[in-house]
Amino acid sequence: MQSLLIKGGVPLRGEVQISGAKNAALPLMAATLLTDEPCVIRNVPELSDVKFMGRILQSLGAEVEISGNTVRVHARKIKSVGDYELIRQMRGSVCIMGALLGRLRRATVSLPGGCVIGARPINLHLKGFAALGAKIAIEAGYVNVTAKKLSGAEVFLGGRAGSTVLGTANVMMAATLAEGVTTIESAACEPEVVDLADFLIAMGAKISGAGSPTITITGVKKLHGAEHEVIPDRIEAATYAIAAACTNGSVVLRGARADHMHAILDKMRESGVKVERSGTSLHISRKGKLKPVDITTLPYSGFPTDAQAQMMVLMALTPGISIITERIFEARFMHVSELARLGADIEIEGPSAIVKGGKPLSGAPVMASDLRASAALVIAGLAARGTTEVQRIYHLDRGYENIDGKLRALGARIQRVDAK
Ligand code: EPU
Repeated sequence: MQSLLIKGGVPLRGEVQISGAKNAALPLMAATLLTDEPCVIRNVPELSDVKFMGRILQSLGAEVEISGNTVRVHARKIKSVGDYELIRQMRGSVCIMGALLGRLRRATVSLPGGCVIGARPINLHLKGFAALGAKIAIEAGYVNVTAKKLSGAEVFLGGRAGSTVLGTANVMMAATLAEGVTTIESAACEPEVVDLADFLIAMGAKISGAGSPTITITGVKKLHGAEHEVIPDRIEAATYAIAAACTNGSVVLRGARADHMHAILDKMRESGVKVERSGTSLHISRKGKLKPVDITTLPYSGFPTDAQAQMMVLMALTPGISIITERIFEARFMHVSELARLGADIEIEGPSAIVKGGKPLSGAPVMASDLRASAALVIAGLAARGTTEVQRIYHLDRGYENIDGKLRALGARIQRVDAK
């Protein structure tokens, strides 16, 4: 197992290229199963989750070639039963269900379990499939979804925490090959859903309204191959922006989509961070003193849960009291106890974390529990005095392309080592 050793206290300076979005790339790869023709996806980040998704598609019979940032998939002939162990290991793989159901009218995949950030049910995905006419059964740990006929329907995907991102992706994919018109109400509005819709449209699907809470899909008989470029990763961009602010640095994010980052950039400005936009670049630097802010995570276009842990580090460095309320995943505060090892003073009160900021952080060995918690620990290590060892960095490699290389290029003293 590898760790990252970080000698903190160096302000990050320079430029960093933002990679393609992991959470767009995974559903896009799943969507290639909807056609028997070849598809090409470009600007795919080099991540272990992407390789994993490639293996899942291969296990279904697709030819997959991953070369640098380009993924080619040819799902000429595929089967409907996914590899139990492979699928169970990656929550994001749940979106192969909608593609298999659309193309083959059946899908058998292992029921994704909960994970460290919360329960992660798929009841809304299944409700959507059922509305299209699918029968659903859970047997021996598998979800079996079968439909003699898929028919367009009105589907409401609102849940207790708002809509569902992968649920919307799943129902949208299945509906592209259903008979008639499907309307998804309370659809997720995340840019990753829009990216998927754009790819499906390039494949011949008829979709309107993606990016709004009402998506309309008119089923077609067949989809064809297409090429697509993945949108930039707004969470990776947010992570580097927060790291720049936390180290009192000055960093240009190249290829970031500021229009996908309104809530994050707004809160950063409110915290006293300078954000300048120039074309497709964002320049992040500090102006004056940091100010405490309060944040509630919400579905897009609200503040994303995936940037909550990183933002908590900025709050820990800011004198005064800041509050984060987590409304998407109930257990997403695993980083709090690890940040405490560096000296952060944070209390959890129900769904809120109360951050009493301004105390200096000092390096310590810490253990990453999930992807974004790991990113927060790296940022904290960069801002802390002394050395921080972030253990179990396989979480980071799931979602951040070459994070140590990118940070080193910004001047960070960071090294990947084999853990003892
Ligand atoms: N939910 C239900 N029922 C469902 C589905 C979801 O109650 O059937 C609830 C969830 O428990 C949660 C909320 O709805 O409270 C939102 O979950 P959502 O379904 O939107 O999450 P997801 O689609 O499974 C994606 C990202 C996550 C990101 C969330 C929220 C991918 C591969 N994953 O998950 O990314 O946090 O949307 O934006 O796209 C990450 O990148 O670190 C990550 C966890």
